[in-house]
Amino acid sequence: MTASTGKTAFKHEALYTALRTEIGATLRPHDPLPSERELVARFGVSRATVRQAVGRLEEEGLVYRSQGAGTFVADPSTISKSLALTSFSEDMRSRRLTPDSRLLDLTLVPAGVTVARDLSLSPGAEVAHVRRLRLADGLPMCVEEVWLPTERIGGLDAGTVAGSLYDALAGRGVQPHHADQVISATVVDADQAALLGVAPYSPALRVDRITYTEAGVAVERAESMYRADRYDFRITVTRRT
Ligand code: GLP
Repeated sequence: MTASTGKTAFKHEALYTALRTEIGATLRPHDPLPSERELVARFGVSRATVRQAVGRLEEEGLVYRSQGAGTFVADPSTISKSLALTSFSEDMRSRRLTPDSRLLDLTLVPAGVTVARDLSLSPGAEVAHVRRLRLADGLPMCVEEVWLPTERIGGLDAGTVAGSLYDALAGRGVQPHHADQVISATVVDADQAALLGVAPYSPALRVDRITYTEAGVAVERAESMYRADRYDFRITVTRRT
């Protein structure tokens, strides 16, 4: 370990411990955690260190993130076991289906306002926009659009996204670790309908995901539109005793 990484690890540990203490002592369930900016100023640490410490608290179920609203103190009585973060390929294989992809678009674009906000990038920073039709046993399952910050994941080419994107990222040392995900009911537009082989306005399950590394660095923003007649979201739930 170099002197600088040692110092960073120490700062992260110190901040993590301070926040844990604060959660136990002064903050109540559902209280907002101080913002990233406040923590940077108060503890004299970098944003990356703040993200790492808060990411660890989140992993331990002590805080939860609400997309666009911030990070809040978790209510210990409602902390639930988090679900496994899977890629499309893993998800399909677990259903005994063979995953495949058809690349529709791969371009480097400046991040728009929403993508920049969700990925904590400066507006206009370069992102790779990848649009793929995802297939299961050769049949269209979903249209998936992802935005990836090239400054964090490196360059992309068609070969990289021909198979599993998560495998490709892991191969570069960028391991998807956890994600904020919203699942909602919607309908497909004419373009998505043509790709999915359904009538326009057919029902779809939309999955929005922001994916982070273990250190809490956002590496992907994704929007997936699944055919509602082919896909359902499956979870195992346990009754509290
Ligand atoms: C799911 C997620 C996407 C992610 C994809 C990666 O579909 N919703 O956010 O990009 O998995 O899948 P794969 O590794 O098979 O390309």
